[in-house]
Amino acid sequence: MNTLHQTTGPNIHPGAPVSDSTTLRDAIRLLSRVKYDDVKMVTIIGDLVTAGHFPMDAFPRIKKGYSRTILYREPAGFEVMVARWSRNAITPVHGHPWFSLVYLIRGSLSESVFKMEKARLLEIEPKIYSTGEFSVDRGVEGTFDNAIHQMTACEDSLSLHIYSDDAIKGEIYSI
Ligand SMILES: [Fe+2]
Repeated sequence: MNTLHQTTGPNIHPGAPVSDSTTLRDAIRLLSRVKYDDVKMVTIIGDLVTAGHFPMDAFPRIKKGYSRTILYREPAGFEVMVARWSRNAITPVHGHPWFSLVYLIRGSLSESVFKMEKARLLEIEPKIYSTGEFSVDRGVEGTFDNAIHQMTACEDSLSLHIYSDDAIKGEIYSI
């Protein structure tokens, strides 16, 4: 089940505080240390965004598409990725490893969420992510058909993603 939350703001630090001078590499180490604690991870990400660590142009632009830049990956599967979206870029309908977190750094993304019922995909209500919003999904470990969705960029956007495994392993669906 997808849940959409508002960020808690930079003044609340349930996890380790991240100062403006913290490098991205240090912060990713912190993310790894608190992995799968979504409150702590989102606090760190929000602080990094506030500190200006994610300028849009630091990531490749793909005309009419989206780029994926892997910032960090552990052999056991934890990965941190930044996606840069051109307006109207659209993903295939796809699933994810058991844990996934999407944080919209800036822009606007539309999400169509699906659930599998009797071997058929049913579309649930669409959602719109605005700057600073995020979602966290927890599914079944060892599977890649969790949190099935399709994302569309309503405008040029930048998002940060954390997965418990290589997201490319996620199931792809045709509808
Ligand atoms: Fe996805």
